Amino acid sequence: MPANDLAVLILAAGKGTRLKSSLAKVLHRAGGRPLVEHVLAACAALKPRKTVVVVGHQAEQVSAVVEPLEADVVLQQPQRGTGHAMQVARRALGGAKFVVVLPGDAPLIRTATLRSMIATHRAANAAATILSAVVSDPSGYGRILRKSETAVQAIVEESQLTDEQRELNEINSSIYCFTLEKLWPALAQVQPNNKHRELYLTDAVAVLAAKNETVLAHVASDPREALGCNTRADLAEVDRIFREWKRASLMSDGVSIQLPETVLIDPDVTAGEDTVLEPAVQLLGKTKIGERCTIRTGSVLSDVVVGNDVIVEPHSVIAQSRLDDNVIVGPFARLRPGTHLKNGSRVGNFVEMKKTTVGEGTKVPHLTYLGNANVGSKTNIGAGTITCNYDGFQKHATNIGKGVFIGSDSTLVAPVRIGDGAYVAAGSTITENIPPDALGIARGRQVNKPRWASRKRRELAATQQSSKAGRPRKKAKARSKKSRRR
Ligand code: UD1
Ligand code: MG
Repeated sequence: MPANDLAVLILAAGKGTRLKSSLAKVLHRAGGRPLVEHVLAACAALKPRKTVVVVGHQAEQVSAVVEPLEADVVLQQPQRGTGHAMQVARRALGGAKFVVVLPGDAPLIRTATLRSMIATHRAANAAATILSAVVSDPSGYGRILRKSETAVQAIVEESQLTDEQRELNEINSSIYCFTLEKLWPALAQVQPNNKHRELYLTDAVAVLAAKNETVLAHVASDPREALGCNTRADLAEVDRIFREWKRASLMSDGVSIQLPETVLIDPDVTAGEDTVLEPAVQLLGKTKIGERCTIRTGSVLSDVVVGNDVIVEPHSVIAQSRLDDNVIVGPFARLRPGTHLKNGSRVGNFVEMKKTTVGEGTKVPHLTYLGNANVGSKTNIGAGTITCNYDGFQKHATNIGKGVFIGSDSTLVAPVRIGDGAYVAAGSTITENIPPDALGIARGRQVNKPRWASRKRRELAATQQSSKAGRPRKKAKARSKKSRRR
């Protein structure tokens, strides 16, 4: 149901100094996406009347990520704190009654949690509701100071904690629901009384509480949802949690994952029942895997569509490709963008392909490069076959028909066409089309020279004898010692 009185505001203008990076903090990735994209995804399901993102540091790059996701952008320049970011967005929030504010660096937040925070806020007709979390290590976070069981007195930032307050383990997630007509006057009273001379949104909470407005803290049932990414260590931890959630969801859909903590799966990946993922597999981008497949150890698939009953043997690297049912690939295969392996085809070890279609039941078992090639069904490509598809300026096509046999170590100089049922003799360099059913042979003729070998050996032995005779004495001594030992 759309919430017409509700706007969403995401604060994403900060630099993220603690990450020590040239990239804006909210563009750092965890769980396969930029941080801010996760936050937007969690909010989209609330169906707010408007979503506004405050940008500042690397505004252009951040806008380029959030605008396609239907968010409006407001520029905060310079960045004078979270309270200032809020003020800058005032006009953009328009006539909304409530706003849900989120930091762009806390990506684990889930829609259901936002919903229950909003429900708490509405039910109590509160001025502010803070999403808090009870954690074992609260360091780095603002702490919730309660005045009673239900009401909040203030949020105290880490730098302003007294020794006693340092023990508080209920933290501010920086996610809030505010009633806007109450927030604006409170925010106007906030002063930049901190060492960074910033206006803290957190200070507006104390102002509201002092006015006896209702300020609540809604405790997140899973404290991990409050995790903010201020450091590289935070990013790694959040990424680990995302990956764990994704694996758990695939396992509950009937996918087996061996040593799950070693397997990395991006959020949009799907896999069918009875598919098995071995240790150290990576499934990236929009990879879709069918049923009863086995993706064996060390393989990396990105944006690959895989049918049913496919086996990807260990250490295969496959990108932007399609593998139909019953295909077997690898070990050590590299399939680059635009590869399509049709039903029952087989690609073996040390084979590289790019922009190539392999027909049904065709085999490319070892040591081959096929680029810009189209191979028909039930063809056999021998070991060491190479398509010479590039002349230094342009790529050219190689067309190989059905039922063809390409002998080992052949080079096919494109553009070239090999007809159905043709043979290519091993070791050929094919520069002209081969008609269907013909043999193409293009190599020097073999010559056998009778008794050549024994003559050669005699010659070699004679030269060795004469050179030994002229050898200096020292070396000869060393040799005789050795032979005595034997
Ligand atoms: C903030 C909270 C802290 C809370 C923690 C949770 C304040 C003062 N403190 O601290 O109580 O426990 O989040 O993660 O709010 N931003 C702007 N403009 C600015 C400054 C910041 O848009 O001028 C954005 C940042 O890009 C970031 C978010 O606001 O996405 C929070 O800022 P950050 O610097 O990460 O605050 P924390 O120190 O984490
Ligand atoms: Mg933060």
